[in-house]
Amino acid sequence: MKITIFGSGYVGLVTGTCLADAGHEIVCVDVDEDKVARLNAGEVPIYEPGLEPMIRTNMDAGRLRFTTDAEMAVNFGLLQFIAVGTPPDEDGSADLKYVLKVAETIATHMQDYKIVIDKSTVPVGTADKVSAAIDKVLKQRGVELEYDVCSNPEFLKEGAAVEDFSKGARIIVGTDSERVKRAMRECYSPYNRNHEKLMFMDVRCAELTKYAANAMLATKISFMNEVANLAETLGADIEQVRHGIGSDPRIGYHFIYPGCGYGGSCFPKDVQALARAASDVGYNAELLNAVESVNKRQKGKLFQKLVQAFDNDLEGKTIALWGLAFKPNTDDMREAPSRELMESLWKAGAKVQAFDPEASRECKRIYGERDDLTITDKRDDALEGADALVICTEWKAFRTVDFDFVKQKLNTPVIVDGRNLFDPDTVKSAGLLYFAMGRGESL
Ligand code: UGA
Repeated sequence: MKITIFGSGYVGLVTGTCLADAGHEIVCVDVDEDKVARLNAGEVPIYEPGLEPMIRTNMDAGRLRFTTDAEMAVNFGLLQFIAVGTPPDEDGSADLKYVLKVAETIATHMQDYKIVIDKSTVPVGTADKVSAAIDKVLKQRGVELEYDVCSNPEFLKEGAAVEDFSKGARIIVGTDSERVKRAMRECYSPYNRNHEKLMFMDVRCAELTKYAANAMLATKISFMNEVANLAETLGADIEQVRHGIGSDPRIGYHFIYPGCGYGGSCFPKDVQALARAASDVGYNAELLNAVESVNKRQKGKLFQKLVQAFDNDLEGKTIALWGLAFKPNTDDMREAPSRELMESLWKAGAKVQAFDPEASRECKRIYGERDDLTITDKRDDALEGADALVICTEWKAFRTVDFDFVKQKLNTPVIVDGRNLFDPDTVKSAGLLYFAMGRGESL
């Protein structure tokens, strides 16, 4: 099939590449000339396992192209995916200006029937707004052309996006048109072989499914963080409690890891946007608001633990920080707990010596050169001359640690572990003070 993808960001790039890999002919269009030039030169702007070689293979095979030429792109595909950003507005609601701009672009250049697919995470009711935007331009052009708008939300996790695309649990399509159903079935047929993954539903249900899935996962995490804090106060170990409750299949082991708060470009934004959408229609989404405020509080926990460990005197201290990315296997630092910690430490007059296997460049991009931030190339170099070690991200490379070595390196024997990576007895037996999340030791 011939397919056009608007937006060569994270979602557009993964979608376009995976659909090309399945044999479709793909044109990806983006307004960012520099990005398009770099992609055409084989440079991939994001770190995502497996993506770069797949882009190269499919470009070489002529199935994947990148362009800024919107007119050509619109007239290329029957399917027109909209995969542009929906940044949060000041009030937390999703800003649809880029989505609606694409809708207008499609309407400006289309010459025949098109299927317009909302892939970006958009609030319930967006498909209607996209249709209205298309209608308006077609009317201005004085032409009558047929089109359909459907919703096809993505469920890709950063760091596992290529795998999620091909092996995802479901493919949701919101539409009531038989023509769209047939086309979407053909589009996804390479990924729908072993068992039926396609779920057709009406467009509003598809739009809400996306938000409900992310909000549910965020709720599980905030719930566990709440219980972890409680466990800490009550002198219980949340890790034992986690095993205890996860064994109940109704609860399950997934997404019940306590930590220093969820980050990334999805959960914080989507929980807020859903709560905002609720309040716009006069509904007070109490649970969603609580999920968000528990998460905000949790992100402050690492700093709070350091403040208490150092008797409120962090001025002049150097803190080693392992993990800048919001989670492992990505270089993404959006809403990462490490950022809140670093910014609080700087305000308190402390210095940060940080290491991350992938996010160094991103960290430098965000914070630039500053005297109170050193980014090291090796994990253990971050310990040099440091007063304490804090772990913000559960990279595999942080799991094996020689605690005697760490004790020897640190000026004060303090480890604050935001991801509960270690066995407390092992750490303590090396003479270190170990402060984890909800592990029976309240600081
Ligand atoms: C999330 C969803 O998992 C995807 O299904 C969805 O498609 C995506 O958002 C999206 O809307 O685009 P992602 O943000 O990449 O994916 O990352 P997750 O792996 O879900 O992790 C989110 C955050 O939750 C991370 O900060 C992680 O550290 C935290 N987390 C996760 C916990 O604190 N505890 C857990 O048990 C699991």
